[in-house]
Amino acid sequence: MNKIAIGCDHGGLEHKNAIVEHLKERGFTVKDFGIYEAHSVDYPDIAYPVAKSVAAGENERGILVCGTGIGMSLAANKVKGIRAAACSDHFSAKYTRLHNDANILCLGGRVIGIGTALELVDLFMDTAFEGGRHSKRIEKITAIEVQEP
Ligand code: RB5
Repeated sequence: MNKIAIGCDHGGLEHKNAIVEHLKERGFTVKDFGIYEAHSVDYPDIAYPVAKSVAAGENERGILVCGTGIGMSLAANKVKGIRAAACSDHFSAKYTRLHNDANILCLGGRVIGIGTALELVDLFMDTAFEGGRHSKRIEKITAIEVQEP
């Protein structure tokens, strides 16, 4: 697991830039979908290409940052195969990997500080899906995608 897609809106630019640096220092290959400088943008316009790249397997996981993390997660979860989780605490960031096999972490630049964001990113990157009884629950999420095309 080495390739990460990342993006943000104007609510998450500083956090996104710090996360890009941090991931590169850790040796990840980071595809930055912007934004790159402070200007207002609609979060679905960033969430969609990041989510598409993860769903297509071009990037193994994704990180999206907006003001709350919620708008990005709502938009990313519209893409088939995406399990995007908005997290602002360590337990959720760890367990959304262990139990939900989340493939995109959404963070709120107006909710948590950069230090906490980097810790949540590390938990998200370093925690494997537990499988077992959780696999059939993920399969049920995927089945909804088929029933509700
Ligand atoms: C932008 O002002 C803000 O609405 C956005 O960053 C995000 O918090 C939406 O969920």
